[in-house]
Amino acid sequence: MSKTVVVIGSQWGDEGKGKITNFLSEQADFVVRYQGGDNAGHTIKFDGVTYKLHLIPSGVFNPNIKNILGNGMVINPINALKEIEDLKKQGFPCNNLYISDRANVIMNYHMELDALKEESLGTGKIGTTKKGIGPTYTDKTSREGIRVIDFISEDFPKLYKEKLAIKNEIIEKMGGTPIDYDSSVKEYLEIAKKIKPYVTDTVVLLNKGIKEGKKVVFEGAQGALLDVDFGSYPFVTSSNPTSGGACTGSGVGPTKLDEIIGVVKAYSTRVGSGVFPTEFEDDISRDIRERAHEYGTTTKRPRRIGWLDCVVLKYSAMINGMTGISLMLLDILSGLDTIKLCCAYKLDGEYIDYIPADNNLLERCEPVYLEMDGWKENITDVKSFKELPRNAQKYIEKIEELIEVKVKIFSVGPDKIQTIVRENIF
Ligand code: IMP
Repeated sequence: MSKTVVVIGSQWGDEGKGKITNFLSEQADFVVRYQGGDNAGHTIKFDGVTYKLHLIPSGVFNPNIKNILGNGMVINPINALKEIEDLKKQGFPCNNLYISDRANVIMNYHMELDALKEESLGTGKIGTTKKGIGPTYTDKTSREGIRVIDFISEDFPKLYKEKLAIKNEIIEKMGGTPIDYDSSVKEYLEIAKKIKPYVTDTVVLLNKGIKEGKKVVFEGAQGALLDVDFGSYPFVTSSNPTSGGACTGSGVGPTKLDEIIGVVKAYSTRVGSGVFPTEFEDDISRDIRERAHEYGTTTKRPRRIGWLDCVVLKYSAMINGMTGISLMLLDILSGLDTIKLCCAYKLDGEYIDYIPADNNLLERCEPVYLEMDGWKENITDVKSFKELPRNAQKYIEKIEELIEVKVKIFSVGPDKIQTIVRENIF
């Protein structure tokens, strides 16, 4: 039985990771976020109430679970505090939340720079969430960032003054309005006081837990194809959502990871710019968008829709070392006459089954589809694989055959009870 499970998005994010991490969290002692920041948006539904989280791990609802915001994250303290206060108002005290002292802080100038950069790129924009993610990771790697430990220290006002002066020059050059130091620092000092009780050395806390045999869920944000190393660069996020990021972003060594669950949406979606080989826009995609509410949790933008792309999934399985799949939103495909499954790309007359690094080549890739018969039945009450219509079973089996990874869990609706486990994870 696994002790540590990494839950990662296998496509372009929004695969339904929130639901599945929340489901697995019930058996866990720790839930850990290891990368990204409040660019993520997890929707969790239980007891008839829908909760939307951007930053805080989904184990926060259970007082017995320790929730960690890991060192690999970038944390906007204003938004973190807002999320904490909102949860408190809803009856969740958040005293099971631990913020890494080593995580980098998203400052107001990072958000400003993110927005200005996007504006300057015009039609070539990345389509970021404008949460300041890229500029904060840039500062982290160029060793100019402010970490959480610095943010809550006495030296913060001086540090912020120095950094802000440099950033304000850039902001002005880019046509933006400089940020006022006095009012910002005042707000930040108030926030730092309130954030401080949550700050700790999460690396020590988590490794101690693992040593004691505690169960851990690592909650990936975004998805493999948005990974800064493996996605369609530059149309990616600035972190490593892939399983390797769980190690560097939490301080847990690779030998300590037992299971890597790839969350796969039964079709594909993408928000923001970038190549998306199986994208299509017609009555079927519009119907999928409406029925599955495919609008960004963070930005509310309509998501682009595509057929399931097994080239992407094979690649994702490889770079993540996936040991199992959790297939989400299968119910959304009910009612279709035919379901398409991309099993290869055709590039300049040749068949390939990998993702070229060159975006120009990727743009020329035409998806090669396998057409499968759909099913008409409503499957939202199905309780086992056996109860699925035969064509839905065949769809799952074909995915397993093409990806060479077992579908261990599948989901037929937003509620927890609509989660079917074929093989126990913990
Ligand atoms: P950033 O992470 O805000 O810098 O945005 C970079 C790219 O990642 C853009 O295409 C965003 O739309 C995308 N992105 C960031 N976070 C998410 C997410 O949680 N789900 C889906 N796409 C995301």
